Amino acid sequence: MKPLDIGSVRDSIDKADARVLSTAIYREVGFFVIRGAIPMERILQWQHEWSRFYEDRLSKSRSVDPFNPVHVHEVLPAALAEIHQCPELLDIMQELYPDLALFMQRFVIKDRNSRTPVFVHNDFCYDYGWPEKTTVFIPLSVSNKENGGISFYPGTHHFGYLGDAGEVNTEIIGPEWPLVCPSLEPGDIALCHTCTWHCSPPHGGGPDRILVQATFQPASDPSSTALLRGEWRTRYHLSDLPRDKFFVRSRSTRLRELQAQVNQIEGHVCLDAATRA
Ligand SMILES: [Fe+2]
Repeated sequence: MKPLDIGSVRDSIDKADARVLSTAIYREVGFFVIRGAIPMERILQWQHEWSRFYEDRLSKSRSVDPFNPVHVHEVLPAALAEIHQCPELLDIMQELYPDLALFMQRFVIKDRNSRTPVFVHNDFCYDYGWPEKTTVFIPLSVSNKENGGISFYPGTHHFGYLGDAGEVNTEIIGPEWPLVCPSLEPGDIALCHTCTWHCSPPHGGGPDRILVQATFQPASDPSSTALLRGEWRTRYHLSDLPRDKFFVRSRSTRLRELQAQVNQIEGHVCLDAATRA
């Protein structure tokens, strides 16, 4: 298999790290780092809220999904749940989407429960609605190669949806394709297209890596959960409905059925062994 070549995208990678967003470079590269985008007084307030929340709610027992241990499932206090509404952030995102909506916001952290790497993937196969979505990573700690910082494969959003969900095969792009792990300080943000391949290395030292992940999209997308700026441009609101009711039967429901069958068979085997003992 001859791997794909990155081509002219390589020339734009260094330009995707600046104090001001270039929407043209973002659309070319699939990610963009903006330095000093969030005022420090806001960061200090969020860091204070996070420390209190972590100490009170997470430090002793955090609900950890073994398949995605970085995701914080506990309900956030309002000051943290509303980080995506920060006006400086909305001003930037409106440059991409004048009628601006939210898809979702969550925290993805690397603490003592989640030091392992995150495999290479893109997010769109786990989302729904339209693929014009931009995730903004907002670090409340430093985020770099040492503490498991978010890392991007430039240009890979041009591939679109790959037909399945999971760990992508980097052999199709080959070893020459660059992987960029920006060193982010609190106040910096990183924009990432939902189809851009990304991953993170293991946490090998330094402070816990604390990232807010907020995904924005045009207000024409029916999967939107809130209008943030401008006007609604969709006639339907799928997010009013439970997502797990969209399919009568699907790959996901089939996997759950098969797992239930396996559990039942294993239960029978255990019961047989116990009966024989
Ligand atoms: Fe992701």
